[in-house]
Amino acid sequence: MSPFLLTRTLPEDAAGAELRSDVLHGLTRTPKELPPKWFYDARGSRLFEEITRLPEYYPTRAEREILIARAAEIAAATRARTLVELGSGSSEKTRHLIDALLPGLDAYVPVDVSRSALRLAGEALTAELPGLHVHALEADFTRGLALPGTPGPRLVAFLGGTIGNLLPPERAAFLDSVRALLAPGDALLLGTDLVKDERELVAAYDDAAGVTAEFNKNVLAVLARELDADVDPDDFDHVAVWDREHEWIEMRLRAREALTLKVPDLDLVVPFEAGEELRTEVSAKFRQDGVRTELVTAGLELTHWWTDAAGRFALSLATAV
Ligand code: SAH
Ligand code: TRP
Repeated sequence: MSPFLLTRTLPEDAAGAELRSDVLHGLTRTPKELPPKWFYDARGSRLFEEITRLPEYYPTRAEREILIARAAEIAAATRARTLVELGSGSSEKTRHLIDALLPGLDAYVPVDVSRSALRLAGEALTAELPGLHVHALEADFTRGLALPGTPGPRLVAFLGGTIGNLLPPERAAFLDSVRALLAPGDALLLGTDLVKDERELVAAYDDAAGVTAEFNKNVLAVLARELDADVDPDDFDHVAVWDREHEWIEMRLRAREALTLKVPDLDLVVPFEAGEELRTEVSAKFRQDGVRTELVTAGLELTHWWTDAAGRFALSLATAV
């Protein structure tokens, strides 16, 4: 059996230094803000998996429906020998793609900031598919990736609508960096959630069981554990609002009462007024024209656009030109 490889591309304390810098900058600016990648410690990754099974959270089911219907077409169009997946999480949906790409597929390279998710997914895949090289990368996909030298053609998959968690300028820089990973003829498979009825969108990010609220508050639990921050996640309420102008869902944490968040190690004392909000994530929703334009700008030509039967979610296949 090929061994399961996990490579960390950052020195051991780089994540800590980055968390400190993100907290220092994000909590001293107006409005307050934290980058979403800090949600995903082991508990955050588990909570996200729970979100994907909620009745209100349609994106995972819609994207799986498309993958099942189109995996063979994707395999025929790309003939990929290496599948790179950014923000791979559990790699659960990806299994449909991997199965369709086998036996030509040589390597699967899942990339994620969550080591626990990479381990769980990588070990399971290695055990079930002994012929496949699984080379996991614990890395930040916004930071320029060094991929292992596995054979082409290469297919980069970015699923789950995670691209929507980047702000427009970050998205442009990110797509440029993805294009730089591809040779002409290589492909990108991109999952995007689509603009739709506001109630359906908000419910997906504010479920009745409160799992998304727990997930959102988990970022404060990460600050408490990693930075010894003095903060009680339950002093905050989970808020999800639809921003009609930008066409994105905004996730926030709202202070229930006036309070002070302290990070003694950083000499940081952050006052919150009652009702003051901290932005933890945006989740942009897309239209076909916008996706095509963003891809073209990065040197990627949209060749296929597939949606689920209900038209809620889209998968795009684009070729590097
Ligand atoms: N692709 C999976 C998971 C989506 S959730 C799905 O479709 O269900 C987003 C995933 O991206 C999580 O696993 C999270 O750990 C990872 N992630 C978030 N920000 C990241 C970053 N900057 N670099 C690498 N991985 C990141
Ligand atoms: N990529 C997911 C999305 O935007 C991440 C996500 C789902 C999320 N639910 C969330 C992030 C709730 C924060 C809070 O759909």
